[in-house]
Amino acid sequence: MKYFEFTNNVKICSGENALVNIVFELQFLNAFKPLILSDAGLKKAGTVKKVLKILNKNNLDVSRTYFSIPPDSSTSTINEIAEFYKTCGADSIIALGGGSVIDTAKGVKLVLSQEKDDIMTLTGNEVINAGKKIPFVIVPTTCGTGSECTTVAVIKNDVTHQKMEFISSTLLPDVAILDPMVIETLPPKLVATTSLDALTHAVEAYSCKQNNPISTGLAITAINLITQNLFMSLNHPKQEVYKLNLLNASTLAGMAFSNSMVGIVHAIGHALGRYNVPHGNAMAILLPACIKFNLNVMAEKYSELLLYFKGPEFYVSILEDERPNAFYKEVKHFVEMASNITGFSLKLSDYGITEQDFSEIATFAINDGAAAINPKLFSRADVIEILKQCL
Ligand SMILES: [Fe+2]
Repeated sequence: MKYFEFTNNVKICSGENALVNIVFELQFLNAFKPLILSDAGLKKAGTVKKVLKILNKNNLDVSRTYFSIPPDSSTSTINEIAEFYKTCGADSIIALGGGSVIDTAKGVKLVLSQEKDDIMTLTGNEVINAGKKIPFVIVPTTCGTGSECTTVAVIKNDVTHQKMEFISSTLLPDVAILDPMVIETLPPKLVATTSLDALTHAVEAYSCKQNNPISTGLAITAINLITQNLFMSLNHPKQEVYKLNLLNASTLAGMAFSNSMVGIVHAIGHALGRYNVPHGNAMAILLPACIKFNLNVMAEKYSELLLYFKGPEFYVSILEDERPNAFYKEVKHFVEMASNITGFSLKLSDYGITEQDFSEIATFAINDGAAAINPKLFSRADVIEILKQCL
């Protein structure tokens, strides 16, 4: 049996009104003066106000705030917030947001715990150690990144504009609070695309070269929750239980891929991110085409995934040899239904991508960290062929 490591020491508080537990969790961590991080979108949507009201009602000091984290956060934002943390007398961090807010908060925690002033001094895993304790709580506001349970933070370099990956177990928070109230106002398109990002995390974690038994178990449960709850949530947006199940799925898939990695969908998706294709949309567009690409080397795994994706009755109704292709067809159908219901496009051309961009995207994709973990080797020509299918 191959050797593997699995890291996740995050306490998860999940359920309706889970947010009220934040005060107890911070007290347990000896933290009473949190710096609360979020963004302008969540402030405008009223989510920040609702959360602050709950925290304040439960006697938490909510006077230290920073709500201007941009969608594509960078090294200078992180350094600025770390400086503010020191001057405002905070003793802990609460991140309320999606991928950019969470990754920014992870970067801030990293700078503070390593007792530095500039995150650029922390590039390269070998220099990061456990460091100083900075109590850290994450409240995710999308059902996709799973970043509350991953050891990764993606941060833009202000000088080169490249996205840099910081990977360390010290980036994990102490607590993740999954409360469906915070995604009440999440638009249906984002419920769909972020959930499809989580589905991609689970499928790639299950099938990539570094999969392990613990990630596999988490990925299966995540796939099950997404298939059973995405359309229920879109059709019954006021029923919190479906959104809570999607939040749980996102966290499970995050834990899974954080410990096994992803593959070709993310390799190309990261490259498309440089062209401002939103990550969840890129995942939705690419997932079926990439499953089709991997099909000839992944027959066994994709047959297994058909069982978890469609359930036992459907699985036994399909001939054994046809199960891998049936998995591809069912995922394609699932993504198309999500697109039809919520109205996001599955054509890269609708996001400003043209054939002239293919060559550069392919170069970025084959050099992405996720490329080497994909079960099937792929070339620039393979990426260009996939992009053509998705244009
Ligand atoms: Fe992703």
